[in-house]
Amino acid sequence: MRPAAILAAALSLFAAGPAAAQGAADLKGQCGGCHALEKPADPTVARLWSRKGPDLWYAGAKFNRDWLVAWLQKPTPIRPGGVLWFAHAKAGEPRDTLDTAGVPPHPAVDAAAAARLADALMALKGDGVVAPGAFKAEGANLTMGKMAFSKLRGCVACHQEKPGEGGLSGPRLYDGGQRLQPDYVLAYTKDPQAFDRFVWMPRLGLSEPDLQRITAYIASLKAGQ
Ligand code: HEC
Ligand code: HEC
Repeated sequence: MRPAAILAAALSLFAAGPAAAQGAADLKGQCGGCHALEKPADPTVARLWSRKGPDLWYAGAKFNRDWLVAWLQKPTPIRPGGVLWFAHAKAGEPRDTLDTAGVPPHPAVDAAAAARLADALMALKGDGVVAPGAFKAEGANLTMGKMAFSKLRGCVACHQEKPGEGGLSGPRLYDGGQRLQPDYVLAYTKDPQAFDRFVWMPRLGLSEPDLQRITAYIASLKAGQ
């Protein structure tokens, strides 16, 4: 190695250390008040109902890093009714009529902070709650996946598959292919209570072929299409 290359390598090592430490410290300091960054030792229904933001202790097994970097700079609503949708349900109207104006906007950060925070989030691997490689990309039928999502298995009652189309009590899935890792989609659909014992998405007891095609369908969804 030439001296210049050695110097460059040494400098980048030096830079990586403090930047990573800074990202983890920022995450704890600026985000930890609203988000669980470690698996709760004893999850309770009271914790779920009073939490200020979704859990991030499995963020590294859930999100695509590129999506995180972009979203942290320009956050848009993922759960139209906020993290506790029924807190924003309009009294006296059907249960999916939400007062979305009452949901506060998410804090935004600049590009450098977004990259640091995304790295720190990607390091939170979630204690084996997502099995890597569970989704097999080949062979799943998208048309059947869409049919299962929209008609047969009722996912669309709680999730949007296109902006403005679908239920509002669950997170939007119309950008599932950009936002989420397929192995996470499969793990969550298979057993939502593995992520939180009290979370209110029902465990639907789907067959393995159904899980594969529904995951393939969600992985194909991209916003702006
Ligand atoms: C005042 C509380 C609050 C603070 C502070 C906060 N968040 Fe959030 N965060 C939320 C809420 C509420 C949501 C859900 C938004 C939605 O679903 O539309 C959210 C959503 C997210 C999501 C998407 C999670 C998911 O499961 O869909 C990420 C990633 C995230 N926040 C990262 C951060 C980071 C990084 C910071 C620190 C810079 C931060 N948040 C600070 C309340 C907060
Ligand atoms: C009764 C409403 C309901 C039904 C029906 C439902 N879900 Fe959900 N789903 C939820 C809620 C609520 C959450 C997550 C709560 C949270 O983190 O804020 C969720 C979370 C998810 C997630 C994780 C998304 C994320 O951003 O973290 C996926 C993937 C998902 N559901 C897929 C499905 C699929 C596929 C079906 C049909 C087989 C389905 N859901 C049926 C309510 C529902």
